[in-house]
Amino acid sequence: MCGIVGYIGNNEAYSIVIKGLKRLEYRGYDSAGIALMGDNEIKIFKKQGKVANLEEFARDKDTSGSVAIGHTRWATHGAPNDMNAHPHYSEHEDIAMIHNGIIENYDTIKKELQSKGYTFKSDTDTEVLCYLIDDIKKHEGVNIGEATRLALQNVVGAYAIVVMSKDDPKKLIAARKSSPLVVGIGNNGDFYLASDATPIVEYTKQVVYMDDDEIAVLEPGKELKLYHIDDTEKTPYIQELELHLEALEKGGYEHFMLKEIHEQPRSIEDCFRGRLNASEGWVSLGGIKEYEQKLINANRVIMIACGTSWHACLVGEYLFEDLARINVEVEYASEFRYRNPIITENDVVIAVSQSGETADTLAALELAKSKGATILGICNVVGSSIARITDAGSYTHAGPEIGVASTKAFTAQVTVLTLMALSLANKKGTVSESKFRGLLSELEAIPAKVQDILEKNDQIEYISKQYKDAQNSLYLGRGSSFPVALEGALKLKEISYIHAEGYPAAEMKHGPIALIDEEMPVFVIATKGTSYEKVVSNIQEVKARKGKIVAIVTQGDQQVKEIADHVIEIPEADEHLIPLLATIPLQLLSYHIAVMRGCNVDQPRNLAKSVTVE
Ligand code: AGP
Repeated sequence: MCGIVGYIGNNEAYSIVIKGLKRLEYRGYDSAGIALMGDNEIKIFKKQGKVANLEEFARDKDTSGSVAIGHTRWATHGAPNDMNAHPHYSEHEDIAMIHNGIIENYDTIKKELQSKGYTFKSDTDTEVLCYLIDDIKKHEGVNIGEATRLALQNVVGAYAIVVMSKDDPKKLIAARKSSPLVVGIGNNGDFYLASDATPIVEYTKQVVYMDDDEIAVLEPGKELKLYHIDDTEKTPYIQELELHLEALEKGGYEHFMLKEIHEQPRSIEDCFRGRLNASEGWVSLGGIKEYEQKLINANRVIMIACGTSWHACLVGEYLFEDLARINVEVEYASEFRYRNPIITENDVVIAVSQSGETADTLAALELAKSKGATILGICNVVGSSIARITDAGSYTHAGPEIGVASTKAFTAQVTVLTLMALSLANKKGTVSESKFRGLLSELEAIPAKVQDILEKNDQIEYISKQYKDAQNSLYLGRGSSFPVALEGALKLKEISYIHAEGYPAAEMKHGPIALIDEEMPVFVIATKGTSYEKVVSNIQEVKARKGKIVAIVTQGDQQVKEIADHVIEIPEADEHLIPLLATIPLQLLSYHIAVMRGCNVDQPRNLAKSVTVE
């Protein structure tokens, strides 16, 4: 996601917009830019990197003007560089635009415009939309507001955009669909625009949260005009802002981690948007399509990662082997790189990394590359080091993950690995058409099921209270829920500092059972599936030793309910997709326990968001 800011009024716009962009840097920081309305010209300054880079670059430039739009980018299409930074011009610099979102049909629109002779400067979907608005404005002979409205009727995807035109220098046009956009009603006939209220709250508390398919026309000294995309006028619903600045950056949540846990219905949907269509029965990961045969023919497929990303790889191993019958080896990158591993050009190495900058993962990948392996990447940060050195890859599109404890990035990684496994299985014919389409439908339904689980937050918080003083804990799971047990244990230990271990449930009898006593909470993923009865036996073994059981169970389960101390019910789903659901309650449990223990949830002691050193 990106951050957008706009101002139109009688004050100097540059400082207002720059300050607002800094408030939104948590939404993305790959590049930043600003467009200012000058005398019969639009001035654009933009630079890769943080807003401070932009300020340095613009220091000696003419940044005067009382109308400006600004953007801090989280790259989705096109690497993070100066050219792909927003704002974008139309071809002859008559129009400038900023955009937060993804135009899914940008390639079709781009080709149509190229056939009309347009030439593009960037790789972004945003520039395409800007050119389309310009093309319509010229050929239909309409003003910038109408041209924007007509253009958006051709667009498929998500957007929050702000547009300015040399022909209407005292006007800003704003529009939104799926990506947030707030209008601030200034006290002196001026207007503010932003992705959320953080850049606005210090100037005014009067805001309008735009709805989908709405277009706003902002002119200083005039009433705010709001239209539906079908051109019917709407009455703006003006609200009084109550939240304080600090809270606003977290979208009203107490911590970034909690915000990111609650973003997962959207981030999982963003991850499979444009890559999955259950009704038509296809999966398409464009980034790695041309490497699928290599994966199928590979001598070995090796997944390398660290921490939470390593747990995602373990889920991937189960999915690749069970669905696509492809053998996968999962390696800690730090071990792999120093073990003098046997790697040949017939191997495919997949690196999974949220930051794309983890030193061990990057080094292991470079080793694999040097030995001739095909290297693929699954990253969240576009243009990151790992993304740049791989032959191909898929981005997780989870948006910036600020909390050190990874949550939405994990479920997004598992989503991409699930899509890969399904695509390979379909290509190889290792799953029936009906099973394939059933899984596609089930995957499409996951965001809503995640939302159902998030709504159990209060019950989970209550359970957390019972175990916040535990000294040790055990997490158990079988099959693809074993990596979920590992992930749950990592979450607890890294933010609450309680010692936690994840284990395959069957392994408990090979040692850990000696730890069980009435002080030991044991978190068990006991959802319906292949090994359900065996997990129930493991639960009984724990209970026989007075251990406390918190079980994640399938909605409606009665059997475990009778023996566990607490159960958290999650919606039924195909066993292959349970990792996407069973993880959610464990994230919330660790979050609440950490908060109750007064820990710094977003920046736990000794930890960094990205371990860029060995
Ligand atoms: C997970 O909560 C931790 N922050 C950590 O284990 C993390 O997953 C690991 O450092 C790998 O980071 P990456 O995904 O950015 O490579």
